[in-house]
Amino acid sequence: MSRVVYPGTFDPITNGHLDIIQRAMSLFDEVIIAVAQGQHKQTLFSLEQRLQMIETIIQGWPGESCVSVRGFDCLLVDFCQQHQVKIILRGLRAVSDFEYEFQLSGMNKNLHPEIETLFLPATEKNHFISSSLVKEVCRMHGDIDNFVPANVKAELLRKLR
Ligand code: COA
Repeated sequence: MSRVVYPGTFDPITNGHLDIIQRAMSLFDEVIIAVAQGQHKQTLFSLEQRLQMIETIIQGWPGESCVSVRGFDCLLVDFCQQHQVKIILRGLRAVSDFEYEFQLSGMNKNLHPEIETLFLPATEKNHFISSSLVKEVCRMHGDIDNFVPANVKAELLRKLR
């Protein structure tokens, strides 16, 4: 049985992240979306809110039982070990992502040599999406319909306007 962890801060989750998750579902038997507490970032949404938004989105998806959402507040490699997962999945949007992702995967490999990181290139239409940009566009009254699902848009409007 192949299992993969897709980690991120997801503050909030965007269509770019969802694209990676849906493609991962066709490649692996089980996908665990690991939502980082986010010690390294000042988040707009609490961990509970970010988990709730993702759970609402995946409810009713075909193959829903193969995806789960978990919060974590420890090293990613420790989370992987706790869940007996040896593969971390990350999306790559542009060359600019590569340097950071290469460093992250190198550190994780050093911490736990058995755990591998795999990269999926973002679909072209999602190359420019980031959670920060979506928040900025929303804050400035721009249209975010193409970047996030309806429930995430509603939460962003509640928080930012
Ligand atoms: N589509 C759209 N946006 C994407 C994307 C995609 N496919 N892939 C990444 N992004 C964006 C995110 O929206 C986010 O945008 P923002 O910076 O504007 O908020 C940015 O890229 C990166 O975010 P994310 O993918 O959530 O990663 P991260 O850098 O916030 O977090 C963790 C990375 C959580 C995996 C890492 O910090 C971690 O493992 N933390 C746990 C503690 C740990 O183990 N630390 C040691 C690590 S070596």
